Amino acid sequence: MEIYAHRGASANYPENTIAAFKEAARLPVFGVEFDVHMTADGELVVIHDESINRTSNGTGYVKDLSLADLKKYDFSSWFSPEFKGETIPTLTEVLDVFHSTEHKLNIELKSDIFPYEGMVEKVLDSIAERKLESRVIISSFDHSAIKTVKQLNPLIETAALFMEVLVHPLDYLNKIPADALHILFPAAIRPSMAEVINSGMPVRTFTVNDETYANVLKQAGIQSIFTDHPEKMNTFFSSF
Ligand code: G3P
Ligand code: CA
Repeated sequence: MEIYAHRGASANYPENTIAAFKEAARLPVFGVEFDVHMTADGELVVIHDESINRTSNGTGYVKDLSLADLKKYDFSSWFSPEFKGETIPTLTEVLDVFHSTEHKLNIELKSDIFPYEGMVEKVLDSIAERKLESRVIISSFDHSAIKTVKQLNPLIETAALFMEVLVHPLDYLNKIPADALHILFPAAIRPSMAEVINSGMPVRTFTVNDETYANVLKQAGIQSIFTDHPEKMNTFFSSF
């Protein structure tokens, strides 16, 4: 089973912070997943929600705030008083954490809520500057962004995100085109998933924090999971 640390090691560290990524980088897991939005001044930042309300001591939409504004807020004390002083990371700060590791880097483009003009080009530039092309997977619920990634650089692995499976998923995935399917846990074991799994296309499932569910997925032929508990899942699958 390939294990991806979802938003970093997010069960024990504040999600999508450098602390969560440093912990993921320390772990012998296959990869890490994180979410990218764009600021008012066009900078790429790593945060799950379109607003900073849930995960910081500030308020507002990322798209309306500059990077300098965003960097004033604390993105860790909401999680636990044990953590303080974590700021919102930029995409490049996160890529630098994994500079000398071998983790796969799944960059999720959060352009499905607000369209971020020029985001795909900027993400591809950051990847190219660090020569990370062979280590990244770009995913999104915004399938038009995935299409743009493939048009600009066909060598980059892409994944289409789904909450539910289509009746004929493979036709749709090949039309985008996407290299992989990332899908919510219950949908990953529906009968119509068989055509994707049997085709050999990578299927990765989120967010799997329970060993029993992870084992059900393994039995169904799925070889990758996103989990908030990378250490626990790594220990579980190492025992096979
Ligand atoms: O990329 C898998 C998963 O992270 C997608 O859902 O809401 O956690 O970004 P979400
Ligand atoms: Ca995500």
